[in-house]
Amino acid sequence: MGPKDAAPILLEGLARLEYRGYDSAGVVVSNRGLKVRKVKGRVADLAKAVPARFKGGLGIGHTRWATHGVPSDVNAHPHLSADQRVAVVHNGIVENATELRAKLEADGVVFASDTDTEVLAHLVARTVEDTASLEEAVRKALKSVVGTYGIAVLDAERPGEIVVARNGSPIVIGIGEKEMFAASDVAALVRYTRQVVHLEDGELAVLRADGFHTFASGGLETAKEPLTVDVEAGHYDTGGYEHYLLKEISEQPETVARTLSGRLDERFHIAHLGGLNMDARETRSFRRVKIIGCGSAYYSGQIGAQLIEELARIPADAEPASEFRYRNPVVDPDTLYVAISQSGETYDTLAAVQELKRKGGRVIGIVNAVGSAIAREVDGGIYLHAGPEVSVASTKAFTSTAIAFALLALHFGRVHDLSPAEGRRIVDGLAKLPAQIEEILEQGPAIAELSRKYAVHPSMMFVGRVRGYPVAREGAQKLKEISYIHAEAYPASELKHGPLALIGPELPTVAIVPDDELLDKNLTTLGEIRARGGRVLMIGHREPGAKLADDVIVVPRNEIELDPILLTIPLQLLAYHAAVALERDVDKPRNLAKSVTVE
Ligand code: AGP
Repeated sequence: MGPKDAAPILLEGLARLEYRGYDSAGVVVSNRGLKVRKVKGRVADLAKAVPARFKGGLGIGHTRWATHGVPSDVNAHPHLSADQRVAVVHNGIVENATELRAKLEADGVVFASDTDTEVLAHLVARTVEDTASLEEAVRKALKSVVGTYGIAVLDAERPGEIVVARNGSPIVIGIGEKEMFAASDVAALVRYTRQVVHLEDGELAVLRADGFHTFASGGLETAKEPLTVDVEAGHYDTGGYEHYLLKEISEQPETVARTLSGRLDERFHIAHLGGLNMDARETRSFRRVKIIGCGSAYYSGQIGAQLIEELARIPADAEPASEFRYRNPVVDPDTLYVAISQSGETYDTLAAVQELKRKGGRVIGIVNAVGSAIAREVDGGIYLHAGPEVSVASTKAFTSTAIAFALLALHFGRVHDLSPAEGRRIVDGLAKLPAQIEEILEQGPAIAELSRKYAVHPSMMFVGRVRGYPVAREGAQKLKEISYIHAEAYPASELKHGPLALIGPELPTVAIVPDDELLDKNLTTLGEIRARGGRVLMIGHREPGAKLADDVIVVPRNEIELDPILLTIPLQLLAYHAAVALERDVDKPRNLAKSVTVE
C-alpha cells in the first residue's frame, strides 16, 4: 500500500510466490469500493485478466494451492463478504470451517465458494460495522476460528489500511518509503524493500502507508525490531538457466562453499558453530540425537544421523516430523533434537518443534531461510546460507543440510573421541567438496543422455546400503516429484526379502554403489538384479560394477562418510533431465507446493 498502484506490485509479488502454490490466483484493489479479478490457472493468466484501468494504491493478492474446493475462478482468493465490503486472502486451513459455515448459513449468509477461507470474510463483515477498527473486527472473527492462518484483510470503508494476522502460516511485513508491504515470504518483497518484520503466531498488524503497528493476540501493542534481509531480487531470477531447478543444482559448488565458509578450523580440525549456543560441556552432555524434518529434509537427516553416529559415536536417528508430532513422543532430557527445514516454515516441523519445547526438549535447527518461524522457535542452530531455493524440488538445500550435519558431527566428534587426525581427514574432505561437485556437474550432458534413455520406463527402483540408502531415497523422491515416474527406494539388503519379485526387464534399478566396506555386498545385489533380467544404472566410484551394470555414472571419491553428499548430485541431474524429456513443469510439479504451511 502507498502512492503507487497496487496491482502491478501484487502481480509481480505473486509471480515470485507462485512456487508456493499455483492452481489459481486473484487480486483485489480498494478504490471507491473493491475491484476484484480472480482466475483458475497461473499468475500470468491473472495478469491477462487484470484490465489496464485497475487503479488503487491499496490491494491484496493470492496464489492458491487448493485444500478446500477444486481449483476454479470462484474458489480462488480473495474472498469477499456478501456485501462486497470485506476481502480476505488466506494461507492455512480453517479446521472448523464446516461448523462456522453452517452457523453463518443458518443466519442467512449465502456462500459463493467451497473454500474454508470464505468464512473469514463473512465473520469479519458481521462485526466490522459495529467495531471501532478493522483490527478489532479481525480479532473478534479470529476468536471463533480453529486452525492455521496467515491472512490479509481489506475493508472497503477503511481504504487506508490492511490488517494482517498470523497463526502457523508466515506473514512478513516490508517497510518501504511511505509505502508498506506484507507477504507470506520475503521473496515477494525484496524488489521493494530489505527491511522486514516477521509476525509471531498470534500476532496481528495494522499497516498504513506511513507505518505499522503490531499487537499480541490479547490486543496489547508489541515492539518489533526490523531485520535487514540479505537476499537480493536477483536471487529469485533464473539467472539465464532454463529452470530454477537447473540453476539451483548448478549453484551447488558455491552454496556448499557458503555453508562451509568460516566454519572449518584447519588448526584444531574442528568446526566453528557459534549459532548452536552450546559450550563444550553442554555438547558432551547429550546421550542421543534425534533428527526431525519432512520429505527431503528428513532424508538429509538420515544422512546426518549416519554422520553423527560414525564421527561422534552418539546414537542418532531421523524421523519424519509429521509422524513424530502425532505420536506423543517421549521427550528425553539427555537427547538433543535437531529440526531441519529449508523454508523454516513447514508446519509439521514447526509443530513438532513446538511440541518438543512444550515438553522441555532442547531443540536446535538446521534452516536455510533466515528469520523464519522454525529459526525463531529453536534454541540455536546452523543456517545453511544456500540462498533462496525457489524450485519446488529441494536440491541445494539438501546438500547444504548434509554438510551442516557433517560439521555438527565433526563438532560433536571432536568434543568426544574423534582424534585431531581424524578431524583433519574430515576437514580436508569437506574443503574438497565444492570442486568435486563441479566435476560431477561437468557430466551434465552425459547424464541427460542417460535420463532420456531411462525416462521411457514408467517405474524405477532405487537401492543403496547403509550410507547409500538415504541417497537412494532422495534420488527416488526427486525423480517421482518432478518427472512423475514412479520410483521406489529400498535398502539393497532388503531386496531379496520381497521387492526382488518386481525386478525384470521392465523395471530398471538405480544402484548407489560407493567404494566402501559394503562394495562387495552391493556388487552381489547388482548380480542378483541382472540375473533376473533387470537393467542397472550404477552411481558409484569405479568400474568393478561396470561389468554388472548397464550404465555407470562415476563420481569423485571423498572420505567414505562424506561420499553420500556427492552421490546425490547425479541423481538430481537424472531427475531434472527426465522431467525435461517428459516435458513436465519442472519447477512447479503438479499437486505440490514449495513450503507446506498446512497440516
Ligand atoms: C523436496 O524436494 C520436497 N519438495 C519436500 O519434500 C521438502 O523437502 C519438504 O516439504 C520439507 O520442506 P522444508 O525443508 O522447507 O521444511
